[in-house]
Amino acid sequence: MVRIFQEKDFILKSNLEKNFKNYLIEKYSQEIAIKIERIYTLHNSIDISIMNQEEVEYWKEKLGAKLLPTGSLRIKKNKKLSDLSGFKEGKWWVQDISSSIPIKLIDNIRKMEVLDLFSAPGGKAMQLIALGANVTCIDSSSIRIKKLKENLNRMSMNADIFQTDFYDFKCKKKFDLVLIDVPCSSTGTIRKNKEIQYLDPFKRLKNLLKIQEDSLNVAKNFVKDKGYILYCNCSLFSSEGEDKIRNFIKENSNWKFEKFVKENKDIEKEWIDKFGFLRLRPDHLYNEGGMDGFFAALLKKIN
Ligand SMILES: C[S@@+](CC[C@H](N)C(=O)[O-])C[C@H]1O[C@@H](n2cnc3c(N)ncnc32)[C@H](O)[C@@H]1O
Repeated sequence: MVRIFQEKDFILKSNLEKNFKNYLIEKYSQEIAIKIERIYTLHNSIDISIMNQEEVEYWKEKLGAKLLPTGSLRIKKNKKLSDLSGFKEGKWWVQDISSSIPIKLIDNIRKMEVLDLFSAPGGKAMQLIALGANVTCIDSSSIRIKKLKENLNRMSMNADIFQTDFYDFKCKKKFDLVLIDVPCSSTGTIRKNKEIQYLDPFKRLKNLLKIQEDSLNVAKNFVKDKGYILYCNCSLFSSEGEDKIRNFIKENSNWKFEKFVKENKDIEKEWIDKFGFLRLRPDHLYNEGGMDGFFAALLKKIN
């Protein structure tokens, strides 16, 4: 059996920044904050998504990986990725389990026309293409667009790619689904970015909240009738997640919030909250080494 971590892997003494920890206690609970405080020092693994899910057992054996509940594989971070079997051949890509879950909650992606508004480096775009969607990718960063193109080339995947600010994107076409994987405080990624809690995440929120609100208002113009917006980010803050969605629904009567259902076979019940939001935390899958915090909500255009 593959062991993902041992006691000695906790290399740092856990010590979350005071205001950040207080927020976690208030929003989640003392017990959850303590678990997050402990698990955040640990990040000795990388998750990958397999191009052809039928080959997952093969790649699990080949890479000595651990199979996670939703079909991602977790590998020890002790080798250069490009030296690992299947990387250059485009058999898998790097993607934390949590960021792969929102798309796994959407039905019938095959043949969907999808607009991916914040696309690079392309984890979710690759997931959508692997499931048979036609994807239009947008990102404002030239460096990150280059990375997106490298990833798609390596995976032998095609997409329409535009380097542009989402505010400036013009297109007559309407889409079945607009994915908004929006810039955020990234507080869910503290296992990878341990410094994030010290960079005044609360002060940085003002600009981010504006982009998040605007992205929903831009996205709605590109959705077909009865189409969807999938809104997500790697923040642990409600202001960037639940609050944004509730405000949007309040201000847009032709949109409704579609709950994610707990009955989905691979999803642990506590990952979906009582309102139907996906609310993943760093302490989820604690015994496997945790996961990134992630939020997702699905919105449907009703006329
Ligand atoms: C969370 S990342 C997207 C991750 C991506 N969806 C994935 O799964 O790999 C956010 C992206 O938004 C892009 N971005 C930030 N501000 C933007 C803007 N105003 N217009 C378009 N893209 C922007 C960044 O360059 C970054 O690549």
